[in-house]
Amino acid sequence: MDRIRIRGGNPLRGSIEVGGAKNAALPLMTASLLTDETLVLKNLPILADINTLCNLLLQHGVAIHMNGAGGDCAGRAVDFTAKDITNTTAPYDLVRKMRASVLVLGPLVARCGEAKVSLPGGCAIGARPVDLHIKGLELMGAQIEITGGYIVAKAPKGLHGAEIVFPKVSVGATENLLMAATLAKGETVLVNAAREPEVTDLVHCLVAMGAKISGIGTDTLRIQGVDRLHGARHMVVPDRIETGTYAMAAAITGGELDILNTRLDLISAAAKVLAQAGVEFTEIDNGIRVSRANGALHGIDVMTEPFPGFPTDLQAQMMALMCTAGGAAMITETIFENRFMHAPELMRMGARITVHGASALVRGVERLTGAPVMATDLRASVSLVLAGLAAEGETTVNRVYHLDRGYERLEEKLAACGADIERVRERDDD
Ligand code: EPZ
Repeated sequence: MDRIRIRGGNPLRGSIEVGGAKNAALPLMTASLLTDETLVLKNLPILADINTLCNLLLQHGVAIHMNGAGGDCAGRAVDFTAKDITNTTAPYDLVRKMRASVLVLGPLVARCGEAKVSLPGGCAIGARPVDLHIKGLELMGAQIEITGGYIVAKAPKGLHGAEIVFPKVSVGATENLLMAATLAKGETVLVNAAREPEVTDLVHCLVAMGAKISGIGTDTLRIQGVDRLHGARHMVVPDRIETGTYAMAAAITGGELDILNTRLDLISAAAKVLAQAGVEFTEIDNGIRVSRANGALHGIDVMTEPFPGFPTDLQAQMMALMCTAGGAAMITETIFENRFMHAPELMRMGARITVHGASALVRGVERLTGAPVMATDLRASVSLVLAGLAAEGETTVNRVYHLDRGYERLEEKLAACGADIERVRERDDD
């Protein structure tokens, strides 16, 4: 298995380009199932998760055609054409690789009147049920059974509109039901809907495909179902989590980075917290300049929340940053019940962290020291890379496949800004 080797201590300087958001690209790709015409997605990131979803869509009968750069399914501009859906089953072998596969459920039931989608099961950061996706579709008239580990949904006469009040904010359930509602009969109202920029990006794409949606960007989305959607061209929104991660890389190394192809408003909550911790943000042409103001970082309390709050997908990186800040920081995770797996690994690098339930108290240390570490999910892994960039000595981050799911050419981008970082391929290790 590949590893990332880092010799820490170099302040990052230069510019880094951010790609299209993985978590926007995945639902957008499944939206192609809603029409027999071509959906062209531009600014698609080249990532393992994009390939996994391409494989799932291919077996549903979607034709995928590369338009832009890149050597495999992922790339810069890709055409998705679901002229005929030849198979409405999403098998366990593909869904277990990536939970976002469950986003084919709403589009398949809406377009074909049936779908059989493997239940994704738990994952490293929490139980992550999909009950809200299922209940919402039932309210829209689907009959659903759970059998043999599969969600089997049937709506032979089509779906109808409904008022769906989410008891908690769910990005995936909002996206699944939003897509289903575009082809349902009548009006669907999603109350307490997720407002993440990735959801809004999906709404914009669906509107470009002919969907009738109002309340865009708010927590109440109203969808008037239409008989059919048509093709469209859509540019994937910049990746705010990649943006925030590189901002923290600049901060933790005491460097200065121009983070390009992105926008400050996508990371407002994180930027506000980071500014209080001593990180400076300036808007520049096509991006953001990030540096550490006046040298020192201060500990600052953070609580994760649905958008527009501080994102859970930046919590691990924030913890790494707080490990080297002056004073203490209380980090509280409210979205997932098991998202502190990085804490014990950071402690192996000399961090002082006490985890108590959903909160972690981080007391800043003078410096972290390099160590072999590994993590069980994407954002935890990248937090260890950040810690390694600041640590004294050598850090090896194992299980790099987690990073490849969500960060395109991470080590190349950081190395180009002065980091001493390399990928060690398995065969080089022997
Ligand atoms: C999306 O996951 C993202 N994934 C996650 O990104 C992100 O952490 C998460 O939203 C929160 O922002 C994609 O967009 C592909 P949720 P999702 O439904 O949709 C509970 C990353 O690192 N819940 O908003 O699966 C759930 O257990 C990842 O890129 C239910 O109880 O998240 C969680 O506690 C990881 N029942 C909370 O809601 C449901 O039916 C929020 O989950 C659905 C969710």
